[in-house]
Formats: sequence, structure tokens, C-alpha cells
Amino acid sequence: MKGTSPAGAHSEQEAAAWVRGMFGRVAHRYDLANHLLSFNIDRHWRAHTVRRVREILARPDARVLDICCGTGDLVIALEKPARARVLGSDFCHPMLTAARGKTSAPLFESDALRLPIADASLDLITAAFGFRNLANYEAGLREMLRVLKPGGTAAILEFSTPPNAVFRALYHFYSRRILPWIGGAISGSRDAYLYLPESVRKFPGASVLAEDMRNVGFGDVGYEYLTGGIVALHMGVK
Ligand SMILES: C[S@@+](CC[C@H](N)C(=O)[O-])C[C@H]1O[C@@H](n2cnc3c(N)ncnc32)[C@H](O)[C@@H]1O
Repeated sequence: MKGTSPAGAHSEQEAAAWVRGMFGRVAHRYDLANHLLSFNIDRHWRAHTVRRVREILARPDARVLDICCGTGDLVIALEKPARARVLGSDFCHPMLTAARGKTSAPLFESDALRLPIADASLDLITAAFGFRNLANYEAGLREMLRVLKPGGTAAILEFSTPPNAVFRALYHFYSRRILPWIGGAISGSRDAYLYLPESVRKFPGASVLAEDMRNVGFGDVGYEYLTGGIVALHMGVK
């Protein structure tokens, strides 16, 4: 369990700097590219995540943080039904600026590996399509565990590997051959959309990520595939 390794990055610091710079370059077109490339299914994936944590969101005393919040789509989806207080954080300033234009939820700039949050202070921590980009997955899981209260929940929505071989082949063809062209044309940054399928390919499979969560100390770990396994939602409890 290491972390993302963009081509040319030789250390965790270089990987994180590359990721931050890349999201900074695509921030102005991120939402458009996201919705087009996923045929708008990304909204359904976030809505599903919100449904799975709705009992926590219903509690007025609950504190919720969406890390790697990017342009804020999951923060907005979490906030809608919530009586809980929902915050968002990201380490890429242009992504947060885009989010600021969409939500009034409190947002702050922070590396998900070093959150400026006291131990045991959150009831729920979420990450949508951000965890895969961390330079160190174990450190990311340990940081989530640190900031959660005992009994608190982590929900990680992330790309995965479809278990069905035929569907997997079709999806890989789309994500490696077609997606970089469309994503590059929309965002003006083809390297970002070459990185995307490559980072998904290198990311641990769903059962491995579940085991990694257990190994750092999460309990009640489980995951479900969405859209044939293009995406998996992992949940675990401190
Ligand atoms: C693919 S975007 C996902 C944004 C949003 N969660 C969504 O669902 O659309 C990934 C985000 O993770 C952020 N990110 C990656 N590594 C990070 C880190 N170490 N700390 C904080 N944010 C990070 C990036 O800046 C980017 O905004």
C-alpha cells in the first residue's frame, strides 16, 4: 500500500506537488469534464454515498468533513439533507475557489495527510475520487482514523476495477483510448486525463483496499460496487 505515482515523480512530495498542479490546471473545466465523461453518472455515485450515511447526516450534533472535496459536489450533496455540520477541505486552491462559488459550507485548504483537526473530533469523513490521488494511502487512512471519534465512519468513494472481464475490457478501452482525448479537449490538459486511467489501473482493487482499512484499524469494513464496479464505495468504522 503506497500511494499515487505520476510519471516523473520520484518521492511522495513530488507526487503530491504534481497532483496539486494538475488539478489546478483543470479546475476551471473540472465539473464539465466530470459530468460529460461519466455521462452524468457521477451525480448518482455521490447521491448513493449520501444515502448510505444519511443517519449520521440527520444528527444536528454530528461533524462531517469531506476531504479532497475539489469543486464541492459531494459537500453540496451531503449538505442538502443534513442537520449535521458539513465542512470541505482540499489542498488545491483553484479547486476550492471553484467550490466557493457553489456552496456556502465552510471550506479550508489542507493536505488530507495532515489535517488541522483535533484527534477524535468527527463523526463522518468522506472522500470522493480523491483518495486514489494521495501520495501515501496508509497515511491517508491513518489520518482519517485519527480525526474520527470512536464509532465514527469513513466513506471512500473511488474508481475501481470491474470484476466482469467483458465489462472490464470495454471500460478499459473507453478510459484509456477515448477518455484522454475528450478530457484533454475539454480541459486543455491531456496529461490530466492520461493520468486518470493510469492512476485507476495502479490503485488497489476493492478487496485489497478493504483489507488495508482493516489493517490500519477500521472495523465493520465493507464495500459495494457501483455501475458494474467502475466505482466502489468503501465504508469502515473507528
Ligand atoms: C478527482 S478530484 C475529486 C473532487 C471531488 N471530491 C469530486 O467528487 O468531484 C480529486 C481532488 O483531490 C484533491 N487532492 C488530491 N490529493 C490531495 C491531498 N493530499 N490533500 C488534499 N486534497 C487532495 C485534489 O486537489 C482534487 O481536488
